[in-house]
Amino acid sequence: MEKFVVQGGASLRGEVTIGGAKNAVVAIIPATVLAKDRCVIENIPNISDVTNLFHILEGMGATIRILNKTTVEIDTTHLVEPTVTYEMARQMRASYYFLGSLLGRCNEASVSMPGGCDFGVRPIDQHIKGFEALGANVTIDGGMINAKADLLLGSHIYFDVVSVGATINVMLAAVKAKGLTILENVAKEPHIVDLANFLNSMGADIRGAGTDVIKIHGVDILHGTTYSIIPDQIEAGTYMVAAAATYGDVLIKNVIPKHLESITDKLVKSGAEVIEYDDSIRVRREAPIEKVNIKTMPHPGFPTDMQPQMTAMLTMAQGTSIVTEGVWDNRMRYTDELKRMGAKIQVDGKVAVVEGVPSLSGAPVKATDLRAGAALLIAGLMAQGTTYIEDIHYIERGYENIVDKLVALGADIEKIDVVEGAMAKAL
Ligand code: EPZ
Repeated sequence: MEKFVVQGGASLRGEVTIGGAKNAVVAIIPATVLAKDRCVIENIPNISDVTNLFHILEGMGATIRILNKTTVEIDTTHLVEPTVTYEMARQMRASYYFLGSLLGRCNEASVSMPGGCDFGVRPIDQHIKGFEALGANVTIDGGMINAKADLLLGSHIYFDVVSVGATINVMLAAVKAKGLTILENVAKEPHIVDLANFLNSMGADIRGAGTDVIKIHGVDILHGTTYSIIPDQIEAGTYMVAAAATYGDVLIKNVIPKHLESITDKLVKSGAEVIEYDDSIRVRREAPIEKVNIKTMPHPGFPTDMQPQMTAMLTMAQGTSIVTEGVWDNRMRYTDELKRMGAKIQVDGKVAVVEGVPSLSGAPVKATDLRAGAALLIAGLMAQGTTYIEDIHYIERGYENIVDKLVALGADIEKIDVVEGAMAKAL
């Protein structure tokens, strides 16, 4: 079993370059099937979610050509069938974006029910509401979601909840629907805007992405394009918090500072210094960590995907911080792992009361999801002694080359492969 082994105590110093946004690329790669053409995608992050999506595309008959470390050409001219099987889709929730893009391509799609991180119920009722409003018939049987339409017609859709996934999936299905589609109460995250820009570069007609209302005029054909993915807001935020949590001084390069404003605001309130440049941001800390209250909200609020990382830093703040999860039902499971390291956290539903302690101690812990894993890495860097992190596959789904990047910043961290149980005895 692979683990991260972290020796705590080092302050992170130096420069780190941020990769392409995971939550943008996992929508943009499925979106390529909307054209029977070639797309060149640049600034692709080196993460396992991307590899899985390439396998799904190849399973459908697309061809992938690696042009360099961060650029691929995807040819979707010939797809054999509009199906993403359980075997292909089970490792990642975002495979359900093929529902919207295959519907948009050929008016039908069959995709396995989504998997993904485990922090509460993750319904898809809003996705289905959108597809049905456009004229698709959606059924679920045998673990597969099947969507089929004689004709997709533009519609006025009001989402009951702000949902990144539903906004993306319905946008994908609507770009070729006949007439005007209006989406209201939509998500406004940077990756929503990035997908809309990508689709428009393919010939779509989408306006208002990043605001509360998106208007889509259906077009008949989408063509191939060349497009560069935006930098990852959450990867950047994670290194910002890691720098502030370890009293470091780090220049984080290839970022869009505007996407980081809510994170910057909270780090400054915690006593860190943040300096913004055109496409980089510097975070350093000399003063003690001050308590800060956090409430996660859809963009432009504080990102839920930064909640665990911020809480990790606040475990050693002066005073007590209140962290409220405003997006997910149950995104506090990771706090049990922080408590194994000496953190003092009381959780009541969506609220965590984090009483600052003078130190954390290294311990064996488990990543319960992608961002929880990042939080445990930060806590391990802050702790005295050694922290062993299991289930690191979650972390590697969304953070490219994270060990190399942290070691380059002075962290003492390595990935080991531990043979356990009967295997160990047999060897
Ligand atoms: C996306 O998940 C992200 N994943 C998540 O990031 C992120 O936490 C989330 O958006 C919120 O920003 C990807 O982009 C691949 P939602 P998604 O639909 O789309 C409810 C990470 O760490 N809801 O915006 O699944 C839902 O229960 C991952 O990178 C419905 O009720 O999230 C939740 O309470 C983890 N019905 C809220 O909306 C629906 O049909 C927001 O969910 C859909 C969602």
